[in-house]
Amino acid sequence: MPELRTTYLGLNLRNPLVASASPYSKKVEKAKELADAGVGALVMHSLFEEQINHESRALDHFLNQGTESFAEALTYFPEMDHYDVGPEKYLKLIGELKKSLSIPVIASLNGVSSGGWVDYSRRMQDAGADALELNIYFLSTDPTVTSSDLEKAQVELVQQITESVRIPVAVKLNPFYTSLPNFAARLVDAGAKGLVLFNRFYQPDLDIEALEVVPTLDLSKPAELRLPLRWVAILYGKLKADLALTTGVHSGEGVVKALMAGSQVAMMASHLVHHGAGEAANVLKELESWMAAHEYTSVDQMRGALSQKGVANPAAFERANYLQVLTSFDTKLK
Ligand SMILES: Cc1cc2nc3c(=O)[nH]c(=O)nc-3n(C[C@H](O)[C@H](O)[C@H](O)COP(=O)(O)O)c2cc1C
Repeated sequence: MPELRTTYLGLNLRNPLVASASPYSKKVEKAKELADAGVGALVMHSLFEEQINHESRALDHFLNQGTESFAEALTYFPEMDHYDVGPEKYLKLIGELKKSLSIPVIASLNGVSSGGWVDYSRRMQDAGADALELNIYFLSTDPTVTSSDLEKAQVELVQQITESVRIPVAVKLNPFYTSLPNFAARLVDAGAKGLVLFNRFYQPDLDIEALEVVPTLDLSKPAELRLPLRWVAILYGKLKADLALTTGVHSGEGVVKALMAGSQVAMMASHLVHHGAGEAANVLKELESWMAAHEYTSVDQMRGALSQKGVANPAAFERANYLQVLTSFDTKLK
């Protein structure tokens, strides 16, 4: 049987299929289904900067309302049980998941600005998380803000977080940077041990009858694999960090492509959300059968074989390929 074991962020994984952040981690029983189906590690759903800030503001408000005396203020505390303590619940959940699962648990923190919420990285570590995934989901809408200002702030945020924890930190980023390799290298210099490519932006739709913007979350399609695949292939071997591919992995074949492009692990969310946790076992079986049929003995042997460095024609990932792809359509016009 081929060797599926691998490492990610210095953690030992039984295989390279990682459950990407999704609602599966919200309930221990559901997360356990994923672990039972064989996934190598679990990334938890994110705790958002906004949730943390909301709670601390609410707590301030709660404690300062009518607190004529300290003793009186103390009597309010029991009621906190009924209050929405999202971040505290998240920390508790980390402990529960760690207790019930024998696979690494990666907590996810989602935010962009610096501030008190960053402290939660250390609290996640103290709650037992094996690693941290920092999701810097940000969309710039202000024409006066430059990309270099934004990138600088994001790099500083990553540095602040990596300096405050001992566990490894991976950064989940967007595909839309003018020079992704440069930004990626700066994140690694700032202490990131892994890069998770990519965040999938949820594109709002427009309701032209109701004249409203409609928030839309569609699950991914397998063709979406190509965007992260190309970037993993380009970045492979150029950075001192693990690459994790997320978006569009829907099968064992998708995992093979991710590994061959150069990713350390392949992450999966939509396929599991759509078909159930048990699908992870089928995907792993497909991976194993493919490897056996093609005489690969380990995932390490496959990794990077089709990266930009590994292929005979590295320009296939670049602009040169663009012209070729377009002209190949000239003969197909009806
Ligand atoms: C229902 C759902 C919830 C998600 N929640 C999170 C989240 O909390 N944090 C995060 O970083 N990504 C979240 N994601 C994104 C996934 O982790 C993943 O990166 C993305 O869906 C692309 O992978 P896929 O093609 O396998 O779905 C979510 C995705 C789905 C479908």
